[in-house]
Amino acid sequence: MSKRFVTVLITLSLLAMLVMPAMAQEDGPSGDLEIFSWWTGGGEAAGLEALIARFAELYPEVNVMNSAVAGGSGVNARAVLTTRMLGGDPPDTFQVHAGEELNALWVAAGLMEPLNAIYEEQGWMDQFPQGLLNLITDEEGNIYVVPVNIHRSNVMWYVPDNLAEWGVEVPTSWDQFINETCPTLQAAGVTPITIGENWTQVHLWESVALAELGPEAYNGLWTGDTNWTSDEAVAVWDTLGQVMDCANSDMNALSWQDAAQQVANGEAAFNIMGDWAAGYFLVDLALEPETGFAWAPSPGTDGVFMMLSDTFGLPVGAPNPDAVRAWLSFLGTPEAQDLFNPVKGSLPANTAADIGNSDLYNAYFQDAYEDWTNNEIVGSLAHGLVAAPAFSNQFASIMSNFQSNHDAGAAAVSSAELALQTLR
Ligand code: GAL
Repeated sequence: MSKRFVTVLITLSLLAMLVMPAMAQEDGPSGDLEIFSWWTGGGEAAGLEALIARFAELYPEVNVMNSAVAGGSGVNARAVLTTRMLGGDPPDTFQVHAGEELNALWVAAGLMEPLNAIYEEQGWMDQFPQGLLNLITDEEGNIYVVPVNIHRSNVMWYVPDNLAEWGVEVPTSWDQFINETCPTLQAAGVTPITIGENWTQVHLWESVALAELGPEAYNGLWTGDTNWTSDEAVAVWDTLGQVMDCANSDMNALSWQDAAQQVANGEAAFNIMGDWAAGYFLVDLALEPETGFAWAPSPGTDGVFMMLSDTFGLPVGAPNPDAVRAWLSFLGTPEAQDLFNPVKGSLPANTAADIGNSDLYNAYFQDAYEDWTNNEIVGSLAHGLVAAPAFSNQFASIMSNFQSNHDAGAAAVSSAELALQTLR
């Protein structure tokens, strides 16, 4: 090879090195994009897959790696995430609940990148509800995640024909459930209510607490205005214990899907679960809303919508931030929200999405949307909104003890001490 030829080659490759990154940027992101969540099955996985499929069309150079860790409400995924975040191995983007699960942990630790530029570019400041933005924004005005949905926690699920056959109606208070509905169903040999593993017991607790305390005192639990050892707060545990007495005894062995399925197949009358259960009934079980499955606010909570929101963000040190920004810029769009939510069971968080389209969003969604826009809104404990993980992780142990000993007084005192130590 001549000297001149070598010089030309070197010059060309230097030029290429200079030009290539600029070209790659112009062409959009490339490389791997690891998406971390706990959506591994049914409507949840279908929603995520629909997002990934459309994103892959928009960004063919990005290789999406869907690394979901199974376990309802993220019980397993969160532990894996913490290990990875603190071990210097963050996924590119991860699922996290709006509110304290995001703020008290990842934002407080300085481990999330602000996303305000994306919100400005996309015009989202006017499209996402202010109340939701408040949950994901810090005191300096930095916004840290993009919400994909609004879920409702306080929903009671049932099958109308089955209730008619068993001679019961949807109870409108826990008192009615415990004293009328439950004995009638037990006499007919039907399980009155299904409950699943530990986190679903916390999920039930928050519906019972909302009903027994009312929205103001429920909110006061998280602000310090409601005393956890008051008679009213102890009564929440008493009521929960009586509801558990009406339930399947193998609760710790059931996933949320198992518990919901027993209602769908006529073994049991009721289940309290967030509206990812609608996604499960629609997608996994192919049931029709209003006949195959039906819903009501959990007893005593009519007029109140207990919300939570699934979001994704950009952790500090993410391997491929350009691809994450593209993913997040897509997630919040009306198009993405309308692909995801009709199978997920949730409402779109972006108000510009097509929720008015009843072909896309069936009777369940129309009803939930009516309540979302007219009801009083409170936040979920079981899904990270109102309390820091420091509280909720320990609350799971309190629930575990309560589930085995039904000691309302002890649960109230332990919760009070925990609240003193962990709630801001
Ligand atoms: C919640 C989450 C929902 C759904 C549910 C069951 O925490 O917000 O999207 O995944 O858990 O796993």
